[in-house]
Amino acid sequence: MWERACSRRAMTDNAFSQAERDAVYRAIGERRDMRHFAGGTVEPELLRRLLEAAHQAPSVGLMQPWRFIRISDRALRGQIQQLVEQERIRTAEALGERTDEFMHLKVEGINDCAEVLVAALMDDRERHIFGRRTLPEMDLASLSCAIQNLWLASRAEGLGMGWVSLFEPQALADLLGLPPGAKPLAILCLGPVKAFYPAPMLVLEGWAQARPLSELLYENYWGVSQ
Ligand SMILES: Cc1cc2nc3c(=O)[nH]c(=O)nc-3n(C[C@H](O)[C@H](O)[C@H](O)COP(=O)(O)O)c2cc1C
Repeated sequence: MWERACSRRAMTDNAFSQAERDAVYRAIGERRDMRHFAGGTVEPELLRRLLEAAHQAPSVGLMQPWRFIRISDRALRGQIQQLVEQERIRTAEALGERTDEFMHLKVEGINDCAEVLVAALMDDRERHIFGRRTLPEMDLASLSCAIQNLWLASRAEGLGMGWVSLFEPQALADLLGLPPGAKPLAILCLGPVKAFYPAPMLVLEGWAQARPLSELLYENYWGVSQ
């Protein structure tokens, strides 16, 4: 059935218009991991649209392993921020000579953003074998695709998003009542921002340098450049 429909359309151009393509690449290029937020709110309809974008992500075997928990309780948000603060200090200690430099970085905007969402892997994932027999982490890859959709759609809507992974997963799972086997992977800060960083904040702060694609692209064999 699908093949027949395709052959009827074979001569048509499947590409988006130039303006639409420009918009897609613009969202990709101007998406930033944001940690500075301007408070405010996200209208329920807009939040719904963004979550629907996340939910349209590809997933291994169509398992749709993502679960999103919207944190609307301010006190709970504060407890989540405390978990992140604890891990921020442990991370700084683990960094050795870069401890002080790390402590000066802003690594989350949990208290300032309009919305906090926790993205988690569902429980009972062992049942899903298609595409995961040798690569069980494909569930994580699928959830990451959903988060990227949310990130790009948010940028297109003019909202910033920050992915925070500095937390002890079991502590967050306990706090939010996750069932055994489910795992929180991301605390997502979402909302209006004054301006988007013109480049990754870690680059602007001198913490890291981004490498060009040419250094990461090989031909036929690992390490062989074109
Ligand atoms: C899986 C993942 C986890 C991340 N965790 C954090 C985090 O805990 N804190 C933080 O400040 N940034 C975090 N980031 C953001 C990265 O630092 C950021 O994506 C990178 O520096 C590139 O910047 P850009 O996203 O603005 O292009 C995370 C990003 C990803 C993809």
